[in-house]
Amino acid sequence: MKSRVLVTNRIPAAVLQRLESDLEIDYHAEKDALSHDQLLDRVRDKHGLLCVVTDAIDARIIKAGSQLRVIANIAVGYDNIDIATAKKHSIVVTNTPGVLTESVAELTWGLILNVTRRVVEGDRLIQSGFWKGWALDFMLGMELFGKQLGVVGSGRIGRAVAARASVFGMKVVFAARKGSNDTTDRSQLIKSLKDSSVMPLDRLLATSDVVSLHVPMTSDTHHLIDREALVNMKPSAYLINTSRGPVVDEDALVLALREGLIAGAALDVYEREPMVNSGLLRLSNVVLSPHLGSATHETRTAMADLAARNLMEVLSGNLPITPINS
Ligand code: GLV
Repeated sequence: MKSRVLVTNRIPAAVLQRLESDLEIDYHAEKDALSHDQLLDRVRDKHGLLCVVTDAIDARIIKAGSQLRVIANIAVGYDNIDIATAKKHSIVVTNTPGVLTESVAELTWGLILNVTRRVVEGDRLIQSGFWKGWALDFMLGMELFGKQLGVVGSGRIGRAVAARASVFGMKVVFAARKGSNDTTDRSQLIKSLKDSSVMPLDRLLATSDVVSLHVPMTSDTHHLIDREALVNMKPSAYLINTSRGPVVDEDALVLALREGLIAGAALDVYEREPMVNSGLLRLSNVVLSPHLGSATHETRTAMADLAARNLMEVLSGNLPITPINS
């Protein structure tokens, strides 16, 4: 008997075909995401679940899927899944690390360049028909050359963002992980990236010209960037977030931007997606992208492929390729 799998989102045809050759697939191909009730209903008789970051796989879903053996998330982050409950029910959870590193790093740099050089603001001006022409003091931004990039999070993506900084002549500093042994952090990072240094988060915030967030969403990182952190930043500094929305206290950020505590922000992720704090919408020094970090043809195909392979391995009785480490 073939194992039954629920695929909650559209995936590339080749990946779907491979799944269909071995498994019985219940494929949700519609544009609109499955509601919680629909998920509850369709997971009941399934052995595997191939899901995405917007599917809230909470305890109710996991308990309803009493035959589930694997939950394969098409994402590197897995804060959408109740890991403790999955573990309690001996369900393997997998994610897709590695394959999206470069695309997220590229988008991060797109946002850094956009916000510091006011590209989106300039585009809005031209589109609105109000551009009056070149002037020596018109729409000046911040030059990156010689400035300091503070990278918060020293995993694959943080390191890939940092690796691109030398091209722009920026100095890189990493935040030492809370509670971790500073020396271990430093030697690990220095091995992978020459010319970078590690410092406590408060010092990184106080001295960096661009602060870029690359931490997973956990209880430790919720509102890591709060009012206090923003007050600590330089008034000329920019905040970039391509990690998870709740890492930043959005209300505190809106206030900080209004008060000029920082120079600007570029965000790809939000606290209550797809809702965006209305305070962010009216600010000219903010660049907003709709959670596009991994959104390239190459990466999304690789993510779906890796998630499908994880799922097939587990359902064939093998070890997954990239289980989550917790
Ligand atoms: C996307 O946000 C991911 O975690 O892969």
